[in-house]
Amino acid sequence: MTDLLKVQALSVRYAGALRPSIADVSFSLAAGEVVGVVGESGSGKTTLGLALLGLLPQGTKVHGSALFERAEILGVSERELRPLRGTLLSTIVQNPATALNPSFSVGSQIVALLRRHRTLSKSGARSLAIEWLDRVGISEPEKRMGSYSHQLSGGMNQRVVIAMALALSPRLVIADEPTSALDVTVQAAILRLITELIDDSGSSMVLITHDLGVVAQMCSRVIVMKDGAVVEAGEVDQIFHAPRSDYTQHLLASQPSHSAPAKPMPTVSASEAAVAKSTEEHGHG
Ligand SMILES: Nc1ncnc2c1ncn2[C@@H]1O[C@H](COP(=O)(O)OP(=O)(O)O)[C@@H](O)[C@H]1O
Ligand SMILES: [Mg+2]
Repeated sequence: MTDLLKVQALSVRYAGALRPSIADVSFSLAAGEVVGVVGESGSGKTTLGLALLGLLPQGTKVHGSALFERAEILGVSERELRPLRGTLLSTIVQNPATALNPSFSVGSQIVALLRRHRTLSKSGARSLAIEWLDRVGISEPEKRMGSYSHQLSGGMNQRVVIAMALALSPRLVIADEPTSALDVTVQAAILRLITELIDDSGSSMVLITHDLGVVAQMCSRVIVMKDGAVVEAGEVDQIFHAPRSDYTQHLLASQPSHSAPAKPMPTVSASEAAVAKSTEEHGHG
């Protein structure tokens, strides 16, 4: 099968930095596949995601290649990249507050996104936006169209961000710690939502996380990063059961729920889900 994404010898050095933040990173991703990127804080995970999205700050030196559907996306001008970003290639960021504009209602932001990339009437875009709010589990979606992000909980805002990331049926989603800014009570539900929607759409995903339990639950393959380099990569089952590098062993041993990677994470019970939902509705997420 042809790779949807093929990253080769990717290195990134921020302006003024003494050494690269990531060096010689290579991996590939098939259509429909979910690959996890794990590693402790500072290992270069976010830098990798930003490089693929073309969102590194100006003055950053980027070397190597990233072919997306066989087209080079590294070193491409903003003008060429912009139509791609958000449509074929999209992102779910860690903190929904950075992705949503506080001055516009969430509904108008989804409508604007849809109309920027699709030929849709205002009312057509509005219906589609409502449909997406419903799909991401937002109750009374029509009413919520007029809400501003400050009126919604973190969990609800992240649901809006997920709707925006997926509404244009991207081929590849890059999710950078998509639940770590959220209340723990809603994290499992949001992860399950992402998994379901990605599954339904047949999109591929690069899932950046420091949580190996999340990788066990959501990914088929994993890339382990340390100090900007890939220390180990392969099938999740294989790496979790027989990690080759000391660093991966250390990561596995230091997970809070050490047993989680070996077996699927317990599914949230109905009562827990109800608690999570009411917490979200009341804005503590
Ligand atoms: N804008 C930046 N300028 C300079 N250095 C940065 C910048 N962003 C991240 N770094 C450095 O790059 C390294 C990797 O960071 P990051 O990609 O954020 O790691 P992670 O997401 O795994 O925590 C760290 O040493 C960090 O300090
Ligand atoms: Mg990060």
